[in-house]
Amino acid sequence: MTRVVCPGSFDPVTNGHLDIIERAAHLFDEVIVVVLVNESKQGLFSIEQRMELIRRSTPKLKNVSVDAFSGLLVDYCAQNGVDAIAKGLRAVSDFDYELQMAQMNGNLTGVDTVFIPTAPDYMFIASSLVKEVAKHGGDVAGLVPPVVLAALDEAYGH
Ligand code: PNS
Repeated sequence: MTRVVCPGSFDPVTNGHLDIIERAAHLFDEVIVVVLVNESKQGLFSIEQRMELIRRSTPKLKNVSVDAFSGLLVDYCAQNGVDAIAKGLRAVSDFDYELQMAQMNGNLTGVDTVFIPTAPDYMFIASSLVKEVAKHGGDVAGLVPPVVLAALDEAYGH
């Protein structure tokens, strides 16, 4: 049985994230989506809200669960019997940093990282851009699931 984590900030989860989570769920026996707590970054949504939005966006994926963690991802992996880290790669611009993190994580505990190429339709989607567009009243309906769209509307008072 292969258990992988899909880690991230997920502030908020986007259709790009969901595509990666869904494909990981088909490739591996068990997927844990882990919301990593970044103490130095004030997010739009609380960790609990982010987890809830992911849960409500993945009801049909029976082998997907959602968790949160504060600390090193490799420690989460070691404590939870995780075999590998699954990450989406959008573009060459993602690659340098993602490779560096994958190698650092591998160096720390030997945990491996599997990269899943982002589908072309989702290449340009990033949570930060979605928030910026939504904040100014732009249309992000095609970029996030309906529950996130509603949460963004509420957060920005639209
Ligand atoms: O969605 P993001 O912000 O691109 O995700 C980055 C994330 C949370 C996966 C990464 O910053 C991370 O793994 N943070 C946990 C702390 C950690 O393990 N840092 C060392 C990475 S080599």
